[in-house]
Amino acid sequence: MGFPDGFVWGVAASAYQIEGAAREDGRADSVWDVFCRKPGAVWSGQSGEAACDHYHRYREDVGIIRDIGARAYRLSVSWPRILPQGRGQPNSAGLDFYDRLTDSLLAAGIAPWVTLFHWDYPQALFQRGGWLNRRSADWFAEYADAVVDRLSDRVTNWMTINEPQVFLKFGHADGINAPGLTLSLAEQLQAAHHVLLAHGRAVQAIRARTRSPARVGWAPVCVVKYPTTGEPRDIEAARRATCGVTTRDLWNNTWFNDPVFKGEYPREGLEAFAGAVPDFPSDDFATIRQPMDFLGINIYEGQPVRADAQGRAAAMDRPIGHPLTAFRWPVEPQSLYWGPRFMHERYGSPIYITENGLSNVDWVSLDGKVHDPQRIDFTRRYLLALRRACDDGTDIRGYFHWSLLDNFEWSAGFKERFGLVHVDYATQKRTPKDSARWYRGVIESNGAALDLDPFA
Ligand code: FCB
Repeated sequence: MGFPDGFVWGVAASAYQIEGAAREDGRADSVWDVFCRKPGAVWSGQSGEAACDHYHRYREDVGIIRDIGARAYRLSVSWPRILPQGRGQPNSAGLDFYDRLTDSLLAAGIAPWVTLFHWDYPQALFQRGGWLNRRSADWFAEYADAVVDRLSDRVTNWMTINEPQVFLKFGHADGINAPGLTLSLAEQLQAAHHVLLAHGRAVQAIRARTRSPARVGWAPVCVVKYPTTGEPRDIEAARRATCGVTTRDLWNNTWFNDPVFKGEYPREGLEAFAGAVPDFPSDDFATIRQPMDFLGINIYEGQPVRADAQGRAAAMDRPIGHPLTAFRWPVEPQSLYWGPRFMHERYGSPIYITENGLSNVDWVSLDGKVHDPQRIDFTRRYLLALRRACDDGTDIRGYFHWSLLDNFEWSAGFKERFGLVHVDYATQKRTPKDSARWYRGVIESNGAALDLDPFA
């Protein structure tokens, strides 16, 4: 029992958050470059222009991943590096970077897990309507073609899109992420539909053009409601809430995963969004629903619930003083038990945790080390919950810690430190934190080290 043999232990990061080199080798603006220039949009006016300079320091970073003992690295490709105008002739210099990175990972015994889109949408295409334009699905397929043509002889694990709920809601409804839009619900659903179409087209592109056997998934956020007791009616209420669409916004699981895995919008969502659901050709679902090898889910927290008298999920207040991360996100290990379980029950697909982690108040101590006991304790609690889910039969195949490095945390700038490795942004010096050493022990023992007291 415990984590199955072959469980994939990884670390994760994304292009705009670490690469820097925003104007090099033909790269053009993404919506994030433009958003960061908007006064007040990002904490302290920061941007990913230099970030962790991973573009130039990738060899050092690959060495760090190897030293952590991770055998898998989740990275994303920057669309405006590959197609500066979003479409057309691929920019060879941009592709060369991912070639070098892939080769250097493979030489270190690390499998690249490539996400095609982690939010850095080409500005040139945004000016042509962005995700509101139905052609965005064609554009994304063209981009997928270019990446797959170059990397698929060596890359076998692919994810199409990262957290559609987050970039659509925060970026197209709330205006707090790029591109900073505040669209109507009808427009949000139109954009979301095109994102789903783009996903389907990209899966088709990968399968049609890959030069080695490909495994394809995607990486939505998982919005978790979990039961606070083991009572069947509480579990059922939590399951229905996790799989429900109850508010008129995009913060849910099934509006996105049902089309991808079942070829339809959930009935409850169609009711909740009545009057705002776009018209579209009926065969769109044939494009959106492609064979999927896995479901990647990103989980940081969850909401405790109990069944009310009608059996509906009622949110429970957390006790006063409940632990919070530096970001003020609640520490909720049970989310890593129930989120994968509910998703696996609904979709039957193997699950990978494609992101999980926390921001913490880390700095370099006088002894030159970075002591982050909270990260160790947080991750230990979450991984113990994940292991219980494996024990209880949920088919979970891997875990990617967010993040490898401290990095550009979107509108929070560099304020939040999510890394297993500390970055001094003035010097670009990398210092593995205590948690990086601890995680190495977890990986080496396939999770057995979780039973040891890390602070003894
Ligand atoms: C997720 C994002 C990732 C990172 C973490 C903290 O929503 O996918 O890029 O910002 O949160």
